[in-house]
Amino acid sequence: MLIDLHNHTKIGSWDSKLNPDETISLSKERGLDGIVFTEHDAVFGFKEAQSLSKKHNFMVFAGIEVNVEDGHVLVFGIDEYNDSFRKHKTLNQVVQDNNGAWIAQHPYRRWKPHPVVLQTSDWDNESENAKALERAKKVNLFEISYSMDVLNGRANIENNEFSLDLASELGMYYTASADTHDEIDIGKVATYFPKNISTYEELIKEIQQGHTWPVDLTNGSLTNYKDFCIIPNDDELVKIWAEIKKNRVRILEEQN
Ligand SMILES: [Fe+2]
Repeated sequence: MLIDLHNHTKIGSWDSKLNPDETISLSKERGLDGIVFTEHDAVFGFKEAQSLSKKHNFMVFAGIEVNVEDGHVLVFGIDEYNDSFRKHKTLNQVVQDNNGAWIAQHPYRRWKPHPVVLQTSDWDNESENAKALERAKKVNLFEISYSMDVLNGRANIENNEFSLDLASELGMYYTASADTHDEIDIGKVATYFPKNISTYEELIKEIQQGHTWPVDLTNGSLTNYKDFCIIPNDDELVKIWAEIKKNRVRILEEQN
């Protein structure tokens, strides 16, 4: 199933031009099987999502995009918000207490240097990126995150690559999300779930287990990785996930 886990509407996100009904209609039209509304630091509402789901006969859930100290995370399974969530350790506890899940988002925004702004005559993009990656690897938010969006529909190839490098170095599972704010964003990327999902609990369980795969539905305008432009078969995915898990165990052992 193809689900976009990251959608903003003008009801709860000042920077979005979309209303929920048009997001759902276009998501359906563009081949998605479900979406999650995730406003900035605000609840969309489980009940609101449920009634939209009925109205449109389409899978709709509600999460939150929380702005924590060192970046943004998408949170699933929480139907409340307060400012204490801005501390990622507090948020992590709330997520665990509610058997929810979170996914780290667009780390390049905070952690990758942007040469257009910082350009100097001796700017070496490659080495600056490598240094930035080393800095990001030591950020506790990422160390404790289990999954990372490695394809963001509004990012460029270089930025998405930074997310993928960081996720790979930390042994994280991969997801993708369009981060919709405008009609053009809808359906550009989605997270593939091999399992048939029909409830929010099922979706959260799959995210918790990392049984996800990022898919670029634009045919490669967002990534150089061909594997993200296709949906691998289930056997291949099981092998990939086992490899990620092995990596994560090794990295955690090295950290301790
Ligand atoms: Fe967002």
